[in-house]
Amino acid sequence: MKTLVASFFDPSSATFSHVVYSAHGSECAIIDPVLRYDAISGRTSTAGADEIIDFVRAHALNVEWLLETHAHADHLSAAAYLRRELGGRVAISAQICEVQRFFREVYDLERGFVCDGSQFDHLFAADESFSIGPLTAQALHVPGHTPADIAYRVGDDAVFVGDTLFMPDVGTARCDFPGGDAGMLYRSIRRLLDLPAETRLYLCHDYPATDRDVCSQTTVAQQRAQNIHVRDGITESAFVALRAQRDATLDLPRLMLPSIQVNIRAGSLPRPGRNGVRYLKIPLDLM
Ligand SMILES: [Fe+2]
Repeated sequence: MKTLVASFFDPSSATFSHVVYSAHGSECAIIDPVLRYDAISGRTSTAGADEIIDFVRAHALNVEWLLETHAHADHLSAAAYLRRELGGRVAISAQICEVQRFFREVYDLERGFVCDGSQFDHLFAADESFSIGPLTAQALHVPGHTPADIAYRVGDDAVFVGDTLFMPDVGTARCDFPGGDAGMLYRSIRRLLDLPAETRLYLCHDYPATDRDVCSQTTVAQQRAQNIHVRDGITESAFVALRAQRDATLDLPRLMLPSIQVNIRAGSLPRPGRNGVRYLKIPLDLM
């Protein structure tokens, strides 16, 4: 059974979303969909998510899953919007509860916000197996960037790596978010790189430093030979030192504060106020 993948790029957050399916008319999963957000005007846009809807309808796909690799800090999730439009179950790692507990305090969320992951339709246990129609799949627990990262392995030859690996010339995801750990990320990545050399790795982001085009896919072999942070021969301690040095230079993601409060609610926007307008919360002088 061939694993078919269609990838969509959101230029404002440099994020790839993927649709995974097996044939015209089959079941599918949508991975890491983006709800665009303009921080200056406070306007959201479903333009990118609507391209995915068009693709799903054109291929007569039946959405079984809306899969998040983690609680993203650089874009709002369109999972709730796509669920309303197309159906499907929104799923994330069971470790999301740890992320929810931390950010409930940051945002001083309402009493009714429970940190048990119940905002999602399904929480994956570490390495849980599941299916997307006839395709077998597994939710590989790959913590390090955050405690709640999953890489979705679909069929024998495709893995959606989330924020672990980037293209070989870009390296790896940062590890300085709450609950992040560079040693843990190194071990998670080595696990992915133990997969067969020809395994296709689909990325969550690409940030080319040169003028090459953005690229959504690489392979285990390419990563082992060329990744500037974790190619074969780079030890865990060398990686941890490199990551610590690099992370110390990084600003917080531009959309971190708007994003996480939505993403820990499975992409649901806050309830409207009495005037019918929805508001995001921004903690001052905290982060
Ligand atoms: Fe991330």
